[in-house]
Amino acid sequence: MRAVVAVTSGGPEVLQVNDLPDPEPAPGEVVIDVVAAGLNRADLMQRIGIYPPPPGASEILGMECSGTIAAVGDGVTEWNVGDPVCALLAGGGYASKVAVPAGQVMPAPLGIDLVEAAALPEVACTVWSNIVMTAHLQPGEAFLVHGGGGGIGSFAIQLARELGARVFATVGSHEKQALASELGADVVISYREQNFVQVVGDFTGGRGVDVILDNMGAKYLEPNLRALGDGGRLVIIGLQGGTKAELDINSIMRKRASVMGTTLRSRPVAGKAAICVQVVENVWPLVTAGKIRPIIHRVLPLERVAEAHALMESGEHTGKILLKV
Ligand SMILES: NC(=O)c1ccc[n+]([C@@H]2O[C@H](COP(=O)([O-])OP(=O)(O)OC[C@H]3O[C@@H](n4cnc5c(N)ncnc54)[C@H](OP(=O)(O)O)[C@@H]3O)[C@@H](O)[C@H]2O)c1
Repeated sequence: MRAVVAVTSGGPEVLQVNDLPDPEPAPGEVVIDVVAAGLNRADLMQRIGIYPPPPGASEILGMECSGTIAAVGDGVTEWNVGDPVCALLAGGGYASKVAVPAGQVMPAPLGIDLVEAAALPEVACTVWSNIVMTAHLQPGEAFLVHGGGGGIGSFAIQLARELGARVFATVGSHEKQALASELGADVVISYREQNFVQVVGDFTGGRGVDVILDNMGAKYLEPNLRALGDGGRLVIIGLQGGTKAELDINSIMRKRASVMGTTLRSRPVAGKAAICVQVVENVWPLVTAGKIRPIIHRVLPLERVAEAHALMESGEHTGKILLKV
């Protein structure tokens, strides 16, 4: 198979497409003929050498893909060769074939092109598991997502809107401001020009939001807690603003707030499979109905993987970047 390998740690130029042996499905696994793979920020960190794959996972980059089932391992009854699918991977997606536990595979949503389906597994599973299964976002609650023009953010706006929440989103450019509004954010905040705590206060009568999905970590810990209302839930999923922060614990206690953090990649297979089941049941019908759409900035051939990484690093993209295999 063709697969992207990082010849050493470093910039996008360390990525090369090489020929490697095809994977075989272990018991409980399937092999997918990959049609497209999605880029994620974690791939950039893995390439730089600061985010190694979990033990036992492929060294090849790539945490999500779409394609068709090519082979089925012992004990797998739910998939057949030729089924169009997309999958959550612990690694290995930037390749023409990948082996994956059957529970991390989902049918490609009906009505979606198979290339586009590669844009969905990470965002759908991350956003659903965090705002529904972890933070229990309720209809009528106020929800804030940071980076509303990114892959996660553009999906979170749409899902929270469909769940009946009032959606606030921060963005860093006018282009992303327009996208966030178009996707249904009620209040779009330019984080470069406005103080999001102030805007949230202004639009909630000083009450604050109920749930925050945060990509910034340390940098936003204190302002996030100020933007949170009584009983609010902060879920941290990204560390773009660092890992270490100081906090007055009283700010959590006074509001009876919860601060949580999760990573999808490190969850056990059974945990990922449970998320996939809920996503297929609850999110795919919204995708098929056109109520949630994958936001795709660019599709590049696998051979242009270095360019795709440089594009994501530039931060100029809106939504997802895909590699067509
Ligand atoms: N824990 C998990 O399981 C999990 C899973 C998937 C993703 N993630 C994390 O989720 C985050 C988003 O991922 P992604 O795929 O959506 O990446 P992405 O498409 O590159 O989006 C990154 C976003 O960060 C925003 N941003 C940068 N600086 C900001 C600031 N000061 N305030 C608010 N927003 C800011 C950017 O907004 P502008 O471009 O508008 O400036 C952009 O929308 C990443 O940190 C990623 O590692 C975590």
